[in-house]
Amino acid sequence: MHPQPYYITTPIYYVNDRPHIGHCYTTTVADVAARMHRLLGRDVYFLTGTDEHADKVVAAAHEHQMTPQQWADRCSGEFRRAFERLELSPDVFYRTSDPHHKRLAGEYIGALKERGDIYLGDYVGWYDVSQDEYLTETVAKEAEYKSPVTGKPLEKRTEKNYFFRLSKYAEALQKRIEANPGFILPEARRNEVLGRLRGGLQDVPVSRAIRAGDADWGEWGVRMPGDPEHRVYVWIEALCNYLSAVDRDDPGAGAGLRGDAAGHADRGDLRRYWPASVHVMAKDILWFHAVVWPAMLMALGRGLPGTVYAHAYYVRDGRKMSKSLGNFIEIDLLEKYCERYSPDAVRWYLATQGPLGATDADFSHAHFVETFNADLANGIGNCASRVGNMVAKYFDGRVPEAGGRFAFDARSEQQTHASFNWAELTPVILSTYESAMHGFALSEALRVAMRYASDVDQFINATRPFGLAKGIEKGTSADPEGDRATLAAVLYCCAEAVRIASLMLFPACPSKMAALWRTWGCSVLNDPHDIDSGFVAPLAELAKWAGPYGLKAGQAVSKGGILFMRADPAEEPPK
Ligand code: MSP
Repeated sequence: MHPQPYYITTPIYYVNDRPHIGHCYTTTVADVAARMHRLLGRDVYFLTGTDEHADKVVAAAHEHQMTPQQWADRCSGEFRRAFERLELSPDVFYRTSDPHHKRLAGEYIGALKERGDIYLGDYVGWYDVSQDEYLTETVAKEAEYKSPVTGKPLEKRTEKNYFFRLSKYAEALQKRIEANPGFILPEARRNEVLGRLRGGLQDVPVSRAIRAGDADWGEWGVRMPGDPEHRVYVWIEALCNYLSAVDRDDPGAGAGLRGDAAGHADRGDLRRYWPASVHVMAKDILWFHAVVWPAMLMALGRGLPGTVYAHAYYVRDGRKMSKSLGNFIEIDLLEKYCERYSPDAVRWYLATQGPLGATDADFSHAHFVETFNADLANGIGNCASRVGNMVAKYFDGRVPEAGGRFAFDARSEQQTHASFNWAELTPVILSTYESAMHGFALSEALRVAMRYASDVDQFINATRPFGLAKGIEKGTSADPEGDRATLAAVLYCCAEAVRIASLMLFPACPSKMAALWRTWGCSVLNDPHDIDSGFVAPLAELAKWAGPYGLKAGQAVSKGGILFMRADPAEEPPK
């Protein structure tokens, strides 16, 4: 076991929205990271879920003659199903309506209040009487201090509210961020946060007074400890989920998408997942995660997360996706892509072409098909079937002996890695892959893996196994025995390299890679039929060239089906 556990989280999503590509993107990225770290043999805890205590939920529930819980169950279920469709593997699908979370969030807030970091103060804001709500200074100013709905003048009002002493932690936070370049990623985001921090911090309101005429929340939400006339502001309560989820003796209980607690039963002391390794989200909610939450943790005396990673946005034709534009890529469309091209293809596209860094990305059908064909159909898919077919044809479907020597056309060296000394090349590639993974450069890690797979194609072109086979078959070879040994060695290398590439590609394409392992009889999973069963050994051992888990001479390699059927770019996109 890798000594350090890995705890990764996505935002918990508002249940009043339907799942769309944005939610799916973040959760897929986190899934790829989680799977990569499981592949290293680490004890991974991967959290996603839903944020449920909102006015909109209460209102929608009333409208549908349901309780907020029933309404939230229904909407949360849509997220759960969306994530199942994409074959995501969270260890917990956490919900803020979970009584455990409500209790602990209340305890954390209570502790902050007790130590004076949450205090009762005056909230001064712009009140829209007609809408019965406060507007922020920015919104009020934009609307020229008139109600954006009715145009009536806004009223400046003061009310009692609880505040979190964020200002107290400004300096400590700034120091922390400056001393830890990896605390906020990518770097562009880190610089923005530092810029804002240098201007100082104001205390933030953390409660909402319950007013006459408010929708009846009943037991929904979390009340301010010691003052039930105030509700804890949803954002503050929601952030607590990351801690409350692992702050119990058995966080696995009742847990993941498959609802299988079994895999977690022997996890022992579960507090070891804190501090979290990485919180992943988009840039919209970075401030809460990189400033407010760490300050709350400091106040609570808890460790800070290792990394807060804020990726950019998926946009559509260069414009932000929004409700008002109605231009979201909804889960229904992504499901159609899953149906036509496989969930692994959608995962691959999101993981390698998405807005992981600081630049927004567009979802385009043409680009999807291009990526699918280049990387999956013509890339790893074609390579695996090419090698499988040659082994079937020339060696009766049995892995040949690795012992022979081979020569290749030296010119091809320039196009590929230094040489085809696979035993030397492989550990170098693996360490590049791992270091990209540790820097959360997931698409880079996957590119390294795919490049390694495409080296196999170059290797085939350089060593020409079909030419050797033809010479032996037709009796034109000058040294048929030597050529047969060369052919064997070449094909051994091809097959072993495909096996190793498939391990590195597994976090993005788990189903297809597991299918390949089954047809090739590779013993890498505890249960070859269950992709979530865990690996029999960590990546360094599994991927050792011709090592204990490497392909063995004589091992049966069946041809298997086509992993990724080439896509027709002219075909109409799914609708
Ligand atoms: N409930 C809060 C988060 C609380 S976390 C303690 C929330 N929910 S949300 O449903 O609005 O989700 C926001 C997140 O969804 C973003 O940070 C990002 O992870 C994902 N995305 C939503 N739209 C997105 C894009 N257009 N592009 C990429 N990801 C986006 O905020």
